[in-house]
Amino acid sequence: MKSKLFTPGPTKVPGAVLSAVGKQVLHHRSPEFSEKVRHVQDELGRLLQTHNDTLLFTCSGTGMMEAAVANLLSRGDKVICVNNGVFGERWVDICKEYGVEAIDVVVEWGKSIAPAELSTVAAAHPDAKAVFVIHSETSTGALNDIKALAAALKDHQAAFVVDATSSVGVHEIRMDEWGIDVVIAGTQKALMTPPGLSFVALNGKAWGLVSNSDLPAFYFDFTTTWKRLQRKGQTPFTTAVSLVYGLEVALAMMEKEGWDNVYDRHARMGEATRAAVKALGFSVLPEHSVNGVTVIMCPDGVDANKIVRVMDDEFGVRVAGGQTHLSGRVFRIGHMGGIRERDLAMVIGALERALASIGYPSTPGVGLTALQQVLLER
Ligand SMILES: Cc1ncc(COP(=O)(O)O)c(C=O)c1O
Repeated sequence: MKSKLFTPGPTKVPGAVLSAVGKQVLHHRSPEFSEKVRHVQDELGRLLQTHNDTLLFTCSGTGMMEAAVANLLSRGDKVICVNNGVFGERWVDICKEYGVEAIDVVVEWGKSIAPAELSTVAAAHPDAKAVFVIHSETSTGALNDIKALAAALKDHQAAFVVDATSSVGVHEIRMDEWGIDVVIAGTQKALMTPPGLSFVALNGKAWGLVSNSDLPAFYFDFTTTWKRLQRKGQTPFTTAVSLVYGLEVALAMMEKEGWDNVYDRHARMGEATRAAVKALGFSVLPEHSVNGVTVIMCPDGVDANKIVRVMDDEFGVRVAGGQTHLSGRVFRIGHMGGIRERDLAMVIGALERALASIGYPSTPGVGLTALQQVLLER
């Protein structure tokens, strides 16, 4: 029996997307495929609410994070990295690798960065070339308020770079209106595509940085990629053709549902899941929760990894454990992309059964009741 996927990425892929991925491949230089690339890139632009071009790459989200550093910066540059979880910390690690000085703004994991704090840090480092932030910090479930952060950085010269890997398709992003200079994201989470494709969008200010960068980039060179797109509607190298088919179908599904409905659905699922786990006696880790994943704190003496294991082994539901120092202390229920409200009863039911199985003192049914209440009321 295959486990049902309730992880915060990769996520459950709908049948229509899987069927598209399984089609015979087109050659990546054919006009038909160029048309698909252009179409998908236009759709991604609409999703980010930007007039800037989006560039598609064959890699996971970390590849795009690294590409952003390599393309925007020069050796010895200073940047500000907001570190409120595993992925925020990753910006720091990548910068170090490229000889970029990273001001590591550590925010207690589970908390979000306050716009005033970021503005103060930016004022203290007026020579910083960029500010790197994670929109939805998947390791802790904390939501950084990108609109407010962009406003707080308005008068600073640093480019505002946002990793939207687990927020795109869950929380609205208005790149142009809010004044975000760069957005990067992977497509294996709320965009319901098997792992392997990522994208980036840059505005004029960011392209200015690209033209001055002296760090090495070849496969991930933004300028080469942009030129090829402009001239031929192609990517410079062999794209993951089948994943582009899948992404096209996934985007069409969400467009059909209506982007506002997609965001509302995630908001309902987030609220209902949080209510369910709280009714079972748990607390959620983040102060301001994202809607694509619920990160649940275990009380002392309860091993979160055991809950994950039992849910999978005994009840066929795969959730995720915690990362780095949160391992064993939290577990994470993903509810984005292909997950629908009706699926939540399965994951909360499995959680209740797993808790009974490990002898955790909770009353089976109270989580499901709280879940249904939110779903019925909203
Ligand atoms: C916020 C965020 N950024 C980046 C990534 C990229 O990680 P990966 O390269 O494993 O896709 C992830 C994946 O979990 C993520 O959640």
